[in-house]
Amino acid sequence: MVVAGACLHSLALVRCFVWTAFCANADNESPAQTGIMHLRHRIQFPPQDANNLEQDEVKFHLLEHDERVELRFHDYGAIYRRQGLYEQLFYDRLKCTSPEKVGSLLKQSLDACGEKFTQLRVLDLGAGNGMMGEVLKSHGVARLVGADIIPEARDACYRDRPSMYDEYYVGDFTNLDASVIKEIDDWSIDCLTSVAALGFGDIPPKAFFQALQFVADGGWVAFNIKETFFSNSDTSGFSRFIRELIFSEYLEIHHIERYRHRLSMEGNPLFYFALVARKTASIPDDFLYRKEITE
Ligand SMILES: C[S@@+](CC[C@H](N)C(=O)[O-])C[C@H]1O[C@@H](n2cnc3c(N)ncnc32)[C@H](O)[C@@H]1O
Repeated sequence: MVVAGACLHSLALVRCFVWTAFCANADNESPAQTGIMHLRHRIQFPPQDANNLEQDEVKFHLLEHDERVELRFHDYGAIYRRQGLYEQLFYDRLKCTSPEKVGSLLKQSLDACGEKFTQLRVLDLGAGNGMMGEVLKSHGVARLVGADIIPEARDACYRDRPSMYDEYYVGDFTNLDASVIKEIDDWSIDCLTSVAALGFGDIPPKAFFQALQFVADGGWVAFNIKETFFSNSDTSGFSRFIRELIFSEYLEIHHIERYRHRLSMEGNPLFYFALVARKTASIPDDFLYRKEITE
């Protein structure tokens, strides 16, 4: 009787699992590259063409509990609160390749210099729910510290990739407490990564500058930026900051590559540049001020 009862119970569990998996995969997309089994969401792109909207203005709908919820691509808090939505939207549907790309170029640059990835102590700024952390971890790193401005990012990372980062800081890098600066300093960071997070209403120059200050002289910096940031026609603070930095004596560029970051909602390729550089010397604290970058 006990055995039969247990079997019936297991059968019910199996049926429940199969039903959940069936419903969850109703849109027949492949699981995110992470291999983590996530619930599938009913994402609906609007009928209107979004070609002339800025990336942070683009909206989509989510059909859930008989409701149609409108979200912007940059509503990160709301996106991270829904397990698997970030991966499904940006990685499955819009084919984002950036963590893999930036990670592999960093590896290539280190290999070319005879340095070991496994010895890096990395600060991953704009870490989100840990997609870049996952790539870095797959190469092996000595320490991995994440940082993001919203608690939902850290919560989602702890939920989905609990062992990814040795520590995860939630804070505004334009205005960090002295105690947090001391704590991050104690990690002896020698590599900064930031993927799909710079500019565009995300990480401002001052926050990226603060993160760069944590990197030891001789350490590495690997990040990606929208392609217009290299163009003189883009006069935004972030764009000017990147150009000043790249042509300064404080960064030695090892690799720059234009590549397809992801697709737009209309299926057009969005090109970014991936950069890998070595920080050659301490950057003066008044660098931004001297370059008149105030945003
Ligand atoms: C598009 S997500 C990228 C997440 C992750 N790096 C990846 O590649 O999947 C951008 C992340 O940058 C974070 N972010 C935006 N502004 C920030 C700031 N000022 N400081 C730190 N993180 C910020 C957002 O909260 C979000 O998690």
